[in-house]
Amino acid sequence: MTSVILDCDPGHDDAIALLLTLASPEIGLLGVTTVSGNQTLDRTTANAIRVLDHLGRDDIPVAAGADRPLVRRREVAANVHGHTGLDGPELPGPGREPCAEHAVDWLAGVVDSAPEPVTLVPTGPLTNVALFLARYPELKRKLDGIVLMGGAIGEGNVTPAAEFNIWVDPEAAARVFGSGVDLTMVGLDVTHRALMTPAHAQRLASTGRAGRLVADLYDFYSRFHRDRYGWDGAPVHDACAVARVIDPTLIETCTCGVRIDTGGELSRGRTNADRWGRVGWEPNCHVAVDIDAERFLGLLVDRISGLG
Ligand code: BDR
Ligand code: CA
Repeated sequence: MTSVILDCDPGHDDAIALLLTLASPEIGLLGVTTVSGNQTLDRTTANAIRVLDHLGRDDIPVAAGADRPLVRRREVAANVHGHTGLDGPELPGPGREPCAEHAVDWLAGVVDSAPEPVTLVPTGPLTNVALFLARYPELKRKLDGIVLMGGAIGEGNVTPAAEFNIWVDPEAAARVFGSGVDLTMVGLDVTHRALMTPAHAQRLASTGRAGRLVADLYDFYSRFHRDRYGWDGAPVHDACAVARVIDPTLIETCTCGVRIDTGGELSRGRTNADRWGRVGWEPNCHVAVDIDAERFLGLLVDRISGLG
């Protein structure tokens, strides 16, 4: 079993990723940390708790982290995730407060005392992770690795050059990619190839509380993808990163040098990947290049159905 901390910004696909961690015996979820991203920190934190409440999982700690990027202005994705960050399903407000500690300090305590090395799974901007590595560099050795959703070798989704999580806080991403921690980047190159369809949502809708929630999330979230791309389906980006931890054979990676563009507006947040060794950058990342979409979606539907 892999000990995991999910660092997220729910967010429809973050919520589905969280459900997938809860449904998977390969993962021991030590807790959830939240960050400003798809919506402001107060909303992403409330959403993480609302999803856990829905499944009666008040045993899972939630700690709130950074409320803005390291140096840039805060940006949110209300156009994709709505005003609450989790528009669509009717979920009551959060039934508890997050931990009193800041996520970065909470993370340090948990990583330090965990009997086994911990895998961080960031599915939002990398602000918390960068702060954690800067504040507690001695704890790097207690990490088994970081498996993140973000970036793209190819086209971005917020600008032609960049994917949202990296674009929001490129300075944080640059620190994480330069940290020397074993890093896996699950980016748009694979998440856009594994679309959840109306048929998946329909199957899930009748399986219980968790499946119904995912179907309701899908209803809202798929609209953006239909309007923007004309797709009859929606990528569940963040769940792909979790799936990589559950079963690494679902996603093929190549190991290469990746550098983050922290420069001007046109290329801000681009994850430049030297896939073919053209510029000889030292390899620092396993980059997702292919996904077994059918097996991934089968796993997602089966596991979430199993939550009842
Ligand atoms: C990423 O951005 C967010 O909107 C999603 O939750 C995902 O983490 C995809 O670019
Ligand atoms: Ca996310």
